[in-house]
Amino acid sequence: METWDECFHAAVAVARKAGEEIKVAFSSEKRIQTKSISTDLVTETDKKVENMIISTLKEKFPSHSFIGEESAAAGEKVELSDNPTWIIDPVDGTTNFVHGFPFVAVSIGLSVQKEVVVGVVYNAILDQMFTGQLGKGAFMNGKPIHVSGQEDLSQALFIAEFGYRRDKQEMDMVFSNLESFLNERNSAHGCRLLGSAALAMCQVAIGGGDMFYHFGTHVWDVAAGALIIREAGGVVWDTTGGPFDMMSRRVLCASSEKLARTIAEGLTQMELPRD
Ligand code: IPD
Repeated sequence: METWDECFHAAVAVARKAGEEIKVAFSSEKRIQTKSISTDLVTETDKKVENMIISTLKEKFPSHSFIGEESAAAGEKVELSDNPTWIIDPVDGTTNFVHGFPFVAVSIGLSVQKEVVVGVVYNAILDQMFTGQLGKGAFMNGKPIHVSGQEDLSQALFIAEFGYRRDKQEMDMVFSNLESFLNERNSAHGCRLLGSAALAMCQVAIGGGDMFYHFGTHVWDVAAGALIIREAGGVVWDTTGGPFDMMSRRVLCASSEKLARTIAEGLTQMELPRD
């Protein structure tokens, strides 16, 4: 029986290899396709990198299960069981990748009995390797990282997302939620939209942002990042303030419980079909 240490080292090695491929492709011409709608993009790199990661890990850990963004898009069932399960987003921030905006990462989590024990998020363009292991802390390029500990919305920088969907009801909700934290009476210092949920979560983990929420994430966007934030001392909840469920398509992260509570109370909630 392998140890999670062995899995951790395998995840870091394969993320580095994936990062090298992504970095080369980042500055080359790309073949772009759309998935569900015209703003839901995929490239040949997403598919190639996911195949490489899955075949590498499968060879090492043949009894493990796999969930991958592009395998799911190709019709594979997304099933999170108690079996050790690798949860993979080969290119988180595909739209950034397409446009040459350097917030692009490979995200790899390992869940055991539905709890993430290993998380690796690697931005090869900026050479930032974020790692975490359950109970062993979080790191960037090998150095320990910590959330800011900020408790006060009026002193916070928050990170949000538009997502790729554009129907009016959803866009209205996105804008009204942004306004809850950016208005004359009650305002954060500022808001940033990075285009990669995994990297937004890592920004909270290193204290570069104080909170992040998103409706519409998938398990592969958040599995690794959620472990990294928690190991960096941060809070990961459902957007309602309840326990985080990585299959629920909703996430709220913050540098402190107090700030997380302020955000949960200010958000208009949205139900989404589960992964
Ligand atoms: C996307 C990014 C983005 C989020 C979208 C995701 P992808 O992942 O995480 O930040 O807003 O909802 O789909 O498609 O680039 O892997």
